[in-house]
Amino acid sequence: QAADDYQQMELAAKYFAHQLRKHPNSARVIDYLKGRGLSGDIVKSFQIGYAPAEWDGLLKALAKSQNDKQQLAELKLLNNNDSGRFYDFFRDRIMFPIRDRRGRVVGFGGRILEGDGPKYLNSPETRVFHKGRELYGFYEARQAHKNQLEQVVIVEGYMDVVALAQAGISYAVASLGTATTTEQLQMLFRATKQVICCYDGDRAGRDAAWRALENALPLLTDGLAMTFLFLPDGEDPDTLVRKEGKDAFEQRLGQAQSFTDYFFEHLSAQYDLSTDSGRGALLSDARPLIEKVASEFYQELLTERLAKLLRRDVSQIKSHVKTQKAASNKPSEALKMTPMRRAIGLLVQHPSI
Ligand code: UTP
Ligand code: MN
Ligand code: MN
Ligand code: MN
Ligand code: MN
Repeated sequence: QAADDYQQMELAAKYFAHQLRKHPNSARVIDYLKGRGLSGDIVKSFQIGYAPAEWDGLLKALAKSQNDKQQLAELKLLNNNDSGRFYDFFRDRIMFPIRDRRGRVVGFGGRILEGDGPKYLNSPETRVFHKGRELYGFYEARQAHKNQLEQVVIVEGYMDVVALAQAGISYAVASLGTATTTEQLQMLFRATKQVICCYDGDRAGRDAAWRALENALPLLTDGLAMTFLFLPDGEDPDTLVRKEGKDAFEQRLGQAQSFTDYFFEHLSAQYDLSTDSGRGALLSDARPLIEKVASEFYQELLTERLAKLLRRDVSQIKSHVKTQKAASNKPSEALKMTPMRRAIGLLVQHPSI
């Protein structure tokens, strides 16, 4: 009886973990992990491993039959070339097993030690691995908190999750190098009420934060909170927590920016609000976003803030709304009183608010 996909993935994780302990060339890998501040316990708890610099290490250990080879190739643990030969997909890399919510290994991230090639190589999509639906560290975080997660920090990388756990912050997850998806956020908000986004202190990290906010808007119901911690330039959670320690990092997390503050800070930075066209552009950018928010309470909050930002231009808001209504050829849509429209209506009637 052949092992099923999840069993094979688990066996692969065990194989990599075993190689880290036993392979004759793994001393430099262990030194590398130690150099990054990781203890043996943390390495064990995330089942971090090592894929040796061999073409047939995993192949020999796991593939007993041609069927096994085929299956392992479908799970992207093996490659096969044009002449039909199979060989290890991950070679000479530090291996991070990615578990699904139920704890099953569904994929791997592999970090290069040195030399050429992409810094991280991830399992491609397979029938058990769907990148946008998984979060690295989510299973481990839930285990550490007996499924009672008060808050979750989203970070970019494997090493960020592991370094935070090493420091005692065991509630971080990583979104696997892509933008944090709606599905990932949905998963998180089923497990916690408070999500803190903490991406790298660089351009890519700041872009990722805004995309996460956009994806979160339809999920933000009353009582859910999303905040944003922006790190100093050049830092990521791993480098910063090692520099500053747990308490300082948690203090930063506690002072993270609310999503409403970040919303307007980000949008107003794009326009010159001293000009009519700048304010108009802000209004037409903010409006559809505000209407996406699930919570009416948050919608009203954002609408009030928007009105305050544009205070001297209530008439402009009014005409903008008129134009929007006139442009809409679906009367039912145009007449629908969203909280946004109610609030703008209020403003128009009472310009002194
Ligand atoms: P980063 O580029 O921020 O990793 O990518 P890093 O902080 O430099 O890596 P370390 O700390 O030296 O190990 C963050 C995440 O983006 C994905 C990985 O999930 C990584 O953890 N990534 C990055 C890739 O998938 N491929 C890459 O080549 C680089
Ligand atoms: Mn990098
Ligand atoms: Mn980065
Ligand atoms: Mn990074
Ligand atoms: Mn890093």
